[in-house]
Amino acid sequence: MVLKNTNIAYENIELPCRPILKWAGGKSQLLSELLPKIPKKYGKFIEPFFGGGALFFAARPKQAIIADSNPELINLYQTVASDVASVIKALGAHINTEEAFYEVRAQDPLKLTPAQAAARTIYLNKTCFNGLYRVNRKGQFNTPFGRYKTPRFLDEENLRATSALLRNATIVLGDYKAVLKEYAKPGDFIFLDPPYLPISVYADFKRYTKEQFLEEDHCDLATEIQRLHDLGCHIILTNSNHPLVAELYGKYGMEVISTRRHISCNGNKRIGEDVIVDIKPPAKLNLKLLPTPLSQQASVYPPTRFMGSKSKLLKEIWSVASQFRFDTAVDLFSGSGIVGYMFKAQQKRVISNDHMAMSACFTKAMVENNNVTLSNADTLKLLEIRGRSNHFVETTFKDLYFTDEDNQFIDNLRANIKGLRNPYKKAIAMTALIRACTKKRPRGIFTYTGMRYDDGRRDIHLGLREQFLEAVEIINTAVFDNHKDNKSRQGDAMALPQIENALVYIDPPYYTPLGDNEYVRRYHFIEGLARDWQGVEIQEHTQTKKFKSYPTPFSTRKGAADAFDYLFKKFKNNILLVSYSSNSLPNQDEMVSIMSKYKKVEVVPVNYKYSFGNQGNKVGNNNNDVKEYIFVGY
Ligand SMILES: C[S@@+](CC[C@H](N)C(=O)[O-])C[C@H]1O[C@@H](n2cnc3c(N)ncnc32)[C@H](O)[C@@H]1O
Repeated sequence: MVLKNTNIAYENIELPCRPILKWAGGKSQLLSELLPKIPKKYGKFIEPFFGGGALFFAARPKQAIIADSNPELINLYQTVASDVASVIKALGAHINTEEAFYEVRAQDPLKLTPAQAAARTIYLNKTCFNGLYRVNRKGQFNTPFGRYKTPRFLDEENLRATSALLRNATIVLGDYKAVLKEYAKPGDFIFLDPPYLPISVYADFKRYTKEQFLEEDHCDLATEIQRLHDLGCHIILTNSNHPLVAELYGKYGMEVISTRRHISCNGNKRIGEDVIVDIKPPAKLNLKLLPTPLSQQASVYPPTRFMGSKSKLLKEIWSVASQFRFDTAVDLFSGSGIVGYMFKAQQKRVISNDHMAMSACFTKAMVENNNVTLSNADTLKLLEIRGRSNHFVETTFKDLYFTDEDNQFIDNLRANIKGLRNPYKKAIAMTALIRACTKKRPRGIFTYTGMRYDDGRRDIHLGLREQFLEAVEIINTAVFDNHKDNKSRQGDAMALPQIENALVYIDPPYYTPLGDNEYVRRYHFIEGLARDWQGVEIQEHTQTKKFKSYPTPFSTRKGAADAFDYLFKKFKNNILLVSYSSNSLPNQDEMVSIMSKYKKVEVVPVNYKYSFGNQGNKVGNNNNDVKEYIFVGY
């Protein structure tokens, strides 16, 4: 049964109005939370568990679908919309006595005219006990008389105002799923206020509704919500703070609100908790991964095994970035340095930043440095033994990672590198030493001691001297001039000043419940080389002789969410590119909702499988099937 209203101009449409009925579990108390969440622009307003319709009457949507599975309710709203005068007239005939109440209650609404039935619904609702809508097994209204002195069941002004508003709506009797299937379209706003899951204080709710909405119905509703989300609708759901609600909707993010309840039998006001789940529509995809060639220079960067390195995503990053105009690329969490280098190769001015000294050293050598290389003579001089070693590595890390001879070699080179005056030569030499140590180390990490994992690779058996010489050559080859004032910075990403006309690439260590994102723990030895162990305290009790990880907000879910908010706000005048994988937290919806506070957002999926670090052995199995995305804010 559908009443479709045409767009006739009605005189009362602008008048504010209140819900026609008192409704247990109505959303009046949540209006201050719900109203600001309604998007400014949307297609239709759809409310398929309409009940008292508190949000609809407060939001006053221009185009709405309102629906309920209760025929008496739908008759009421349809008739108030189409024939309010008859409803007012029929209400005028009612009186508030116990005798009249029970007489009206006993009537069969199906035998009344629509206007009489509508008037009966209002009359019983306003004169019965606590305004409860309760029916017996046969579906007959059975709430007792309320004994109110002067119940206001005939509020003519409000009825006329609601009538005008309801005429803007399509009013449907039906099951919520059928209604949504027929009416929901991309861009619609859907408010879902199903019968709450019963928990302690909410238990009474169950008795007030004819239909049962069981746990399996809530699971079905969650599936329908996922369909609506995929379709591109904006959905707001309310429910009780029940564990199943957290289970079904936790992934979207939920807000818990304390509310006073007025439905207890003894009239006490009780505190309950409502949950609001606000599920914004997925961002529309206008950006495409166009095949955009990278210059040959971009591939000259020394191959890297750095954890989380985006060496395999450079084409995709450039493909998205090249669709925007910008002078400067900021690589905010530069890690291996390869993304900044790619931007340099694409003729952008680059600012590379990382809080690790080793990362800053790599980018000093190959991003900031436009034309300095280490000559053969420089390199040979670095290898000379000149008795300046302080034996720090030899003594501190004895028998941990390398042989005594290798440690002596490292100490000698450290001393000679310190003696270099040119900062770029220094950076090349230190980058080469770090590269040599990493290559000679099984798995390239320092979280274990000894030579476990020796797989007999050439890299592990080649001497450190040869490794160093090879590294210098490969780094020298990577040095080139893009005629821009590129910069390498060591520091906290949060403290980088704002930059004009820039694209900011954000690739922080993501928090995942499964993974390890502690760079310092993994790379403490080479990070120590880069900073000469200055300003850090080695934790002597640890087997690996590591030092404490640097503080970063990205090591917890909440910290990461706040940090993203801070960074997106700070760089809101720039183009933002964020690398993101599907197993990360905050989850995709949360990230989009944080970013869309400041920017228009698009999510570009890219195909990529992790094949590095400690996840390397998992390539091919399901755990590794992580989807990569680039979030774009512009
Ligand atoms: C996923 S890695 C970046 C990988 C890089 N895009 C690449 O392709 O090699 C994350 C980097 O963030 C750095 N980092 C973590 N917290 C930071 C902070 N607060 N400020 C700056 N850098 C930080 C880590 O040192 C690490 O190098």
